Amino acid sequence: MAPPTAIVTGGSSGIGLALTHHLLERQWNVVIADINPPKDSIDGTIFVKTDVSSWDNQASLFKKAYEWNSRLDFCALNAGIDDRDDIFATISGDPSKPPGKPNMATLNIDLIGPYYGIKLAAHYMSLPSTGAGKPKLGGKIVVTSSAAGIYPIPQCPQYGMAKHGLVGLVRSLAPRSSTVGITINAICPALVKSGLAPPGLLDSFSEEQFTPMSTILRAFDELAEFEKVKNEDWVEKGHSGETVEGNLGELIYHKPAQRHEASSYANEEGLRAWDRAYIERNKKFVEAP
Ligand SMILES: NC(=O)c1ccc[n+]([C@@H]2O[C@H](COP(=O)([O-])OP(=O)(O)OC[C@H]3O[C@@H](n4cnc5c(N)ncnc54)[C@H](O)[C@@H]3O)[C@@H](O)[C@H]2O)c1
Repeated sequence: MAPPTAIVTGGSSGIGLALTHHLLERQWNVVIADINPPKDSIDGTIFVKTDVSSWDNQASLFKKAYEWNSRLDFCALNAGIDDRDDIFATISGDPSKPPGKPNMATLNIDLIGPYYGIKLAAHYMSLPSTGAGKPKLGGKIVVTSSAAGIYPIPQCPQYGMAKHGLVGLVRSLAPRSSTVGITINAICPALVKSGLAPPGLLDSFSEEQFTPMSTILRAFDELAEFEKVKNEDWVEKGHSGETVEGNLGELIYHKPAQRHEASSYANEEGLRAWDRAYIERNKKFVEAP
């Protein structure tokens, strides 16, 4: 029987690298998907050079990952970068100098990348898991959002947009993903030491202001139940649609805003009308133009 198998995007550094080691210690196999290889080669892993903002790169990554052990149990859609634009820096005060097209790399990597990953994971996690020796359906997905997916971040608005987008995406997908046995959750780390921040930022804070990696790994454990998946070779329903902030030693579960009572268009009957109107119609648009 093949071991449970995971994809970790952004697995060569920081949170993704720590998660890779965490999974290996629990006898998982890990596919590291990153634009850069890890500094040292790591037993129990394969590295697939991947730019998560490329659909073709991710399609090839998921195919390789599934074919490795004929199963795909868990995906951490974790690769991310901070901002590469500043809207206000291009205000010139000169009518002949309007801004050029902005650099949207952050949105493409931090939001479109996970969307591609979820679409592919849904396919491969729904194939028979022959490597597990069982006709398993389903799997677990955790996307790495951020505290910037819950609170505003004036210094990195494109990052804030992408990370808020991930929270909305997870909450919107969870009800239907559970019908195919897939759980999907977002972790929202506060400030964690990694390769993400620009030079100098981390030096501005004292040790007790950083969230330890152990808190983030605990969030992954709670949301993806690695031990259970491994021991039972099966993925049961667990947390789904959650937004979990990891801040210092705490895991904080954030709930969506309550709808105002005036929103009768979104009551049980109303939601059935939304299902009828959208779910069939959107099947016509599934291939990108
Ligand atoms: N460190 C923090 O304080 C913090 C807080 C909140 C959220 N996060 C999120 O955690 C995730 C992991 O970041 P980290 O802090 O470990 O930073 P990191 O820079 O150490 O690791 C990010 C990894 O992503 C990879 N990567 C970048 N662009 C990529 C692309 N286009 N395709 C594939 N891989 C790519 C990098 O090569 C790197 O290995 C990110 O999504 C980040 O936004 C980090």
